[in-house]
Amino acid sequence: MLTDRRGHAISTVEPRAAVALDEAIAHLVGRRSALTPTLARVRELDPDCVMGQVLTGMMGCGVRKLSGLEAAREAYAAAAAQRDQVSARERLYVDVLESAIAREPDAVVERLSAILEHCPTDLLASVLLQGELFWTGDMQRAEAESARVDAFWCSSIEGYADWLALRAFDLEETGDLALAERLGRESVERDPNNLWGAHSVAHVLEMKGESAEGIRWLDELKGGWDAGGPMKYHLWWHRCLCHIEQGQFEAALEIHDTWIRNSELPFQKALPDFYLDIQNGASNLIRLELQGIDVGERWQVLANAIEGSWDDLSNPFTTLHVAMVLAATGQLGRQQALLNNVNALASEQQSALARTYRGVPVVLEFIAAHRAGRHQQVVACGASSRASLWQLGGSHAQRDVLFQLLFDSARRCQDYALITSIHSDLERIGFVHPLGRVAYRDAA
Ligand SMILES: [Fe+2]
Repeated sequence: MLTDRRGHAISTVEPRAAVALDEAIAHLVGRRSALTPTLARVRELDPDCVMGQVLTGMMGCGVRKLSGLEAAREAYAAAAAQRDQVSARERLYVDVLESAIAREPDAVVERLSAILEHCPTDLLASVLLQGELFWTGDMQRAEAESARVDAFWCSSIEGYADWLALRAFDLEETGDLALAERLGRESVERDPNNLWGAHSVAHVLEMKGESAEGIRWLDELKGGWDAGGPMKYHLWWHRCLCHIEQGQFEAALEIHDTWIRNSELPFQKALPDFYLDIQNGASNLIRLELQGIDVGERWQVLANAIEGSWDDLSNPFTTLHVAMVLAATGQLGRQQALLNNVNALASEQQSALARTYRGVPVVLEFIAAHRAGRHQQVVACGASSRASLWQLGGSHAQRDVLFQLLFDSARRCQDYALITSIHSDLERIGFVHPLGRVAYRDAA
């Protein structure tokens, strides 16, 4: 029987397709750019390989854009045609893809969880599950899911370093910084090119406020990121957070122009509006502006990148960053249209995607109000939205930009009650000594 390196069956008549599929899974888990060509090779060797089509479809959904769904539907059709010929685990994967295309995150989660019930070391399922829960704001569930299968893992299982990296991120987002750091560092000791391990530790250091160590950590590892996919640009964004914290604004701008928004990078040339890159770019510019830095024409560069997809409502957290770009470039008509579209989507009762968008309108309002200098309005929005920002998805470090905006307005309005409340929020979230940080220091 053909299997992946953890012993899970791969249904295909072509042994070379099984080998290529196993490599593709390793590239996906390792966040490496070779995923795309390796998956193409699987399809070339055996177009009927169900898991090759499932992965292709999940990648189409994974770009979190409407335009990715067409390729996903084609892949689903090919996979569904073979569904009766494959193992129960592979059939569940076909169902996962069906739910992802239908944009039903709850069903995706339940089906991936069902796979792990029977195949606890199926690293592909764990990675996909963590991603889905991350973007729907449910890292408590993510931590519970990884805790459930953790006992089945040991160092002799292939992919153990990736497992440690995954587990570390769940622990970091749910507050166990010490264990998260230990597992994250171990994952990188075992595999220095492990992007997700580097990322988990970068998050821990961000929560602990250890920005000098964050720069050292990322600088030491950056030589191993050449094979990385877009995650490596997100690691550069993490490094910007550290530089901003250190008051090294020129360094953050230089990284922005080299790694966060650079049309010469082949990936950004091919996919200029990739959701994570838009989030990285907008978040970095806002943080710099909040420190009084003139970011020049950089907002317009981001605006150009989203010109064809600013109204794509596939991911709430991306929509927030699109709103930042529209506000910063004075696109008031589109800003209002985006709000109208989000309100319409959020009011749909039957849509699972709608639920993930319910907290977005108030955030769009305070992003626009902050840019327009209507700080009393920002403060009013903050009072009603602070407690539910986690539901928007993303990490604590990413959502911090929203607290920074609220805090800036609270400071300008001398609203000490809100300042105090945000301080409590940040401590409860897990930031160590938040009022010592550059974004919050002055009002402290
Ligand atoms: Fe991150």
